[in-house]
Amino acid sequence: MKSILILLTGLCAAAASSSSVKQKPNIVFILTDDQDWHMQSLDYMPLLQKHVIDKGTLFDKHYCTVSICCPSRVNLWTGLAAHNNNVTDLNPPYGGYPKFVWEGHNQNWLPTYLQEQGYNTYYTGKLFNAHTIDNYDDPPVNGFNGSDFLLDPYTYEYYRSRMTRNGAPPISYEGQYSPDVVAEKALGFLHEATLHDQPFFLGIAPIAPHSNVRFVDPIEFGTAAYAKRHAHLFQDYKIPRTANFNPDVPSGVSWVRDLPKLNDTVIEYHDEFQRSRLRSLQAVDEMVESLVQTLEVKGLLDNTYVFYTTDNGYHISQHRLPPGKECPFETDIHIPLAVRGPDVPAGHVAGVVSSHTDLTPTMLKLAGHDRYKTLDGFPIPLTEGELASPESGEHVNVEFWGRAIPEGKYGKIGDDSFPAVGNGTAGIAARNNTYKALRLIGSHYNLLYTVWCTGEREFYDVTHDPDQVQNLLHQDHAALRSEYQLYGRSFEHVVNRLDALLMVTKSCKAQECHEPWQTLHPKSSVKVLSDALRPKYDDFYTNQPKVSFSSCVLGHIISEEGPQDVNAWNDFVIDGYPGTARQQRFQWSGHWSWWT
Ligand SMILES: *[C@@H]1O[C@H](CO)[C@@H](O)[C@H](O)[C@H]1NC(C)=O
Ligand SMILES: *[C@@H]1O[C@H](CO)[C@@H](O)[C@H](O)[C@H]1NC(C)=O
Ligand SMILES: *[C@@H]1O[C@H](CO)[C@@H](O)[C@H](O)[C@H]1NC(C)=O
Ligand SMILES: *[C@@H]1O[C@H](CO)[C@@H](O)[C@H](O)[C@H]1NC(C)=O
Ligand SMILES: *[C@@H]1O[C@H](CO)[C@@H](O)[C@H](O)[C@H]1NC(C)=O
Repeated sequence: MKSILILLTGLCAAAASSSSVKQKPNIVFILTDDQDWHMQSLDYMPLLQKHVIDKGTLFDKHYCTVSICCPSRVNLWTGLAAHNNNVTDLNPPYGGYPKFVWEGHNQNWLPTYLQEQGYNTYYTGKLFNAHTIDNYDDPPVNGFNGSDFLLDPYTYEYYRSRMTRNGAPPISYEGQYSPDVVAEKALGFLHEATLHDQPFFLGIAPIAPHSNVRFVDPIEFGTAAYAKRHAHLFQDYKIPRTANFNPDVPSGVSWVRDLPKLNDTVIEYHDEFQRSRLRSLQAVDEMVESLVQTLEVKGLLDNTYVFYTTDNGYHISQHRLPPGKECPFETDIHIPLAVRGPDVPAGHVAGVVSSHTDLTPTMLKLAGHDRYKTLDGFPIPLTEGELASPESGEHVNVEFWGRAIPEGKYGKIGDDSFPAVGNGTAGIAARNNTYKALRLIGSHYNLLYTVWCTGEREFYDVTHDPDQVQNLLHQDHAALRSEYQLYGRSFEHVVNRLDALLMVTKSCKAQECHEPWQTLHPKSSVKVLSDALRPKYDDFYTNQPKVSFSSCVLGHIISEEGPQDVNAWNDFVIDGYPGTARQQRFQWSGHWSWWT
């Protein structure tokens, strides 16, 4: 009798371990640098198409929240909005690796959370700006079981990189092509990861298609360098001649409007600039294939999520701009995101609105870590079931502090000198580039609203003006503005709602970032813009504090950023002046409710 019991117990244990102890999924995360959506870069990556996009889901409404490298990466890897992690620039005092450490993120970010869940974690390529040959071990980057980082001031020299492996003194890779070096290291870490039983995370951040930057005096942003085997490609490529491409009529805020029209010499240089970027991405494309094939050979593909995205977008000639990023235009903030993995539908294009703030929560949820519930993002729906009834919202919080930096050899957009890492090197930039923006995308609207530190504002109806050349808040477009209607409501009513929502998103924390309308309407059913546009809320929105700045500064200095709090709609007040108006209530079904 006794022995039978033991036998049964043993059988149960064996059954349990094979069914319920399913290994947590592995994550391979590829992060390129400055890759565009709007100049067709994805169309020039056939292997990414074949192995990730066709086998997974492309998210076509994915956004970065700060369109520049370091702040965008800290936002991505912490799951905290830039206004909460306060890493808002490339270099100290407001940004860079030292600021990341100073703010305490080195102890609390995706890789440390994943290690808490039993993951082995690996990373190779670029981590953050101002992570240098001098400070790479002061302190060392925390949270990775294996790492091999590109270091400043050589990060963007495609044939002269220096890297630190597991915190050891930097090694020079002079003469070797940086994206190929990173690909080789990524495959090495993938092999290392498979020697252990635990699930793994592998982050891979090649510099393609970033400009080739040399920290000479003045700083030099040249065309992306490519591998010799790709030099012959894309001779006929031209940047799409969209309505915003070097337009006859200037657009944007004043520093953008002041740019002169580009001449043919510059345009030819810009087309070649983008061709070089596309060529540099070929090494990444080949790496994607090698990674996926290796996962397949090792029998891991079925339990591995492969993410592909970039830190921020890019513009070249749109709005007459020289090569660069840092603007709230779609070119700069709307970026590729593709995911393949267990239960992710193949060949699907998902229209959910998502941002980089959501990626760490997404991965933590996959890893079974509850921490995602306290972050500023929200897990992106990945499976067919989740995608069928997504819980995601309609908004993206976009923010920026500091300068717009021109790249390429004709890039002059301002007169503000800025220092860079290295030996007293400097560049010239537009300084007044601090702004708060709101991207709002619903089934019947697609809007961008931005408030700048100069007091200028922009409003684009992206459905009708996908290239964002008609700022309805500019005096030139007063006629369009007066005709504008959304759900039968006037332009002014729409802008009042957007401004109030931006008041919330620009300083939101945690759940509030996911459900910002709730802050304005704590008790009622306002969930989307159309709800908030009801006439009964007109006075409430007209009388809200407005988004504003008292000056243009280079960092997140709250005292310069205008009012911080909004009024909340009180359902117990009919006319929308909380605390001042008549209260009319009646009781219904045992609940206090309102007749409106
Ligand atoms: C990876 O690092 C974590 C945290 O230090 C550690 O617990 C784990 O054992 C390491 N994994 C391996 C394979 O060494
Ligand atoms: C075109 O513009 C660039 C940049 O302003 C200038 O350096 C160049 O001389 C111009 N070329 C011609 C042919 O006007
Ligand atoms: C800075 O100057 C020092 C001394 O002249 C030199 O050794 C070092 O290579 C320079 N760094 C860069 C990034 O040029
Ligand atoms: C920047 O904005 C300030 C207002 O905050 C203005 O006084 C200054 O002239 C602007 N500078 C440039 C270069 O546009
Ligand atoms: C962000 O960091 C800067 C530089 O350390 C500091 O001056 C500023 O007050 C910080 N902002 C917030 C909101 O903590």
